[in-house]
Amino acid sequence: MAVLDQLTSQQAIDLENKYGAHNYHPLPVVLNKGEGVYVWDVEGKKYYDFLSAYSAVNQGHCHPKIVNAMTNQAQTLSLTSRAFYNDILGKYEKFACEYFGFDKLLPMNTGAEAVETALKLCRKWAYEVKGISENDAEIIVCENNFHGRTTTIISFSNDPVARKNFGPYTDGFIKIEYDNLDALENTLKSNPNVAGFLVEPVQGEAGVYVPADDYLNRAKALCKQYNVLFIADEVQTGIARTGRLLATCGDCNCENKNCSGTPDVKPDVLILGKALSGGAYPVSAVLANDSVMHVIKPGNHGSTFGGNPIAAAVAIAALEVVRDEKLAENAFQLGNLFRSELNKYIATSSIVNLVRGKGLLNAIVINDNEDSDTAWNICMALKDNGLLAKPTHGNIIRFAPPLVMTEDQLLDCVSIITKTLKQFELK
Ligand SMILES: Cc1ncc(COP(=O)(O)O)c(C=O)c1O
Repeated sequence: MAVLDQLTSQQAIDLENKYGAHNYHPLPVVLNKGEGVYVWDVEGKKYYDFLSAYSAVNQGHCHPKIVNAMTNQAQTLSLTSRAFYNDILGKYEKFACEYFGFDKLLPMNTGAEAVETALKLCRKWAYEVKGISENDAEIIVCENNFHGRTTTIISFSNDPVARKNFGPYTDGFIKIEYDNLDALENTLKSNPNVAGFLVEPVQGEAGVYVPADDYLNRAKALCKQYNVLFIADEVQTGIARTGRLLATCGDCNCENKNCSGTPDVKPDVLILGKALSGGAYPVSAVLANDSVMHVIKPGNHGSTFGGNPIAAAVAIAALEVVRDEKLAENAFQLGNLFRSELNKYIATSSIVNLVRGKGLLNAIVINDNEDSDTAWNICMALKDNGLLAKPTHGNIIRFAPPLVMTEDQLLDCVSIITKTLKQFELK
């Protein structure tokens, strides 16, 4: 077999199983083409993508504007390293800072790198601005968080699969219950060494847990009161996914005025990744105002690829698409429709307990044990019926389609989902 021969699905799966590390457990489907809300497998079967590469492909697969920006830049200048200036990074930084309402941006590549960057920034700010004694800074995180896979990040995870046998772990983190303001206030009150509070506006990987409407707003106020940085990890929730440009919104130039009900919360430190490139390229970033970002000096932090010209060109295009195609508004409207349609089904269902979410980041909870394989089997049946989704944890299935979906397509997906669920109803 020549390396570039067309493979059958089984051949591709066998190759990955034999030569790839087994760090994922994919559904048995092998994709080789994507366009908008659709992907195709190597046998030519078409599916709705209801995962969007974990919310990276908000702008839809192979968006022509993003692909053009990427190929044009790749043919002109791809990488210079930060040892020199390039002529597009500054333009991107200005564009993104104005777009999200911050003074400065620090470019990285993956979400986990951006989280690490935010943690380092927070610690340095603690010692140089807040005045905490060196090595004493603590950062509050939430139970059931997911912020990535580095050694430091898994040090404050409470997922045993992600943690076990990867110790020793990094110190300096205090874990509290998510969506619990008393826990946050008590921790802040009793610990003068707290430098930051790192939080996901919706806990995506944990199973799409949406906190109370006033949680983020009041958490931010508590952080301000105790001079602690409010750090929002919007790697998954950001860039229109939850029906607003950012789930925390803040001063961003979000066009969607329909999202009242959740007060605006401007983070001190904003972490973005995934859809910052529309899924075309690994692009992540940390944004903050000068009062925080000024602690970073030459040599403190960096990345060979962070801020490379292709990433800069791709990110500008990806953000323009979100704005020009009003994706936040679309996600808001289709998200409401999706939940209301599914709720009609759930009212008489024995197999689904509930649907929850914000915008087009949603999940259904299956009426079975966390360690049952019902959710997996439902995803296999959804695949057979032309829709790709995956359980997040045990009995929870996340639904996160590209935000370029139309209402007709969404209703078609609802009918695929409900038809599939019917096969699993308890007799
Ligand atoms: C909230 C959040 N933070 C960070 C990450 C890590 O991003 P990456 O996989 O690009 O390192 C993820 C990935 O799913 C995420 O959902």
